[in-house]
Amino acid sequence: MSALSQKHLLGIKYIQKSDIELILQTASRFKEVLQRPIKKVPSLRDITIANLFFEDSTRTRISFELAEKRLSADTINFSASNSSVKKGETLLDTVRNILAMKVDMVVMRHSSSGAPVFLSQHIPASIVNAGDGTNEHPTQALLDAYSMTEKFGTLKGLRVLIVGDITHSRVAGSNIPLLQKMGAEVTVCGPPTLIPKHLPELGVRVETNLKKALQWCDVANVLRIQLERMDIKFVPTLREYSLFYGINRELLDSLNKQITIMHPGPINRGVELNSDVADSGQSLILQQVENGVAVRMAVMYLLAGRE
Ligand code: CP
Repeated sequence: MSALSQKHLLGIKYIQKSDIELILQTASRFKEVLQRPIKKVPSLRDITIANLFFEDSTRTRISFELAEKRLSADTINFSASNSSVKKGETLLDTVRNILAMKVDMVVMRHSSSGAPVFLSQHIPASIVNAGDGTNEHPTQALLDAYSMTEKFGTLKGLRVLIVGDITHSRVAGSNIPLLQKMGAEVTVCGPPTLIPKHLPELGVRVETNLKKALQWCDVANVLRIQLERMDIKFVPTLREYSLFYGINRELLDSLNKQITIMHPGPINRGVELNSDVADSGQSLILQQVENGVAVRMAVMYLLAGRE
């Protein structure tokens, strides 16, 4: 198989296990390219990609831009903060105007869940969801999967813990279906107010005791509290959250095993993760960022359908 089953990457829930496998295999080839002295291939020459960021980003935006440059695509970058969105232009008008300039693919981050799906129903270009509200962040889940596969060889049977603000996390929203499709076991841990009630029905274990949860897992993917998405208080204070759900060196050393720590970034150091863990040999955080470029190259290459 050498083609994705979908024209867009809107979310992990819309793609099949075979799509995930194809993306991860293709990413391995691009990772090899990225180790060469000349890190550029002509794969997407003459393809124009618009990076539309309606919400802030550091890692994802730079990673997509770099992946596009490595593939020799032509790129245009749009940030809502300095655009005519500020003058009241709608999402659809903004995108239709950009597409009128002959754009082939759109990478979009938006604060509204479902914005990429909405757009896919109205425009002909392929869309890559770079994170929509509290819904999905599919390329983050793919790069997380790539990083875990690189470390453990397979996702099948791997025990993955996702810790933190599960309710507001699009990273959890994509990681959970991906891990389940690939045969990993998934547990979530966090304050009960930040864990969606329906997760056990989806086969996800819930554990509110962090030490027990860490004792169980091979990998802990640690998420930040998304204060910007909360209109009410879900935890009394960040200090209290950190006391019960923060991961520090003392806690990891008290386990009778060595686990791997991941985090999608940005980290709130001293809240969900202490520096003595984030910057340690147990952490895959910077490998995740590195792998993100190869994974995004794979996604855009496969969506462009180039031989
Ligand atoms: N992981 C992630 O999506 O980070 P950014 O918000 O910086 O893109």
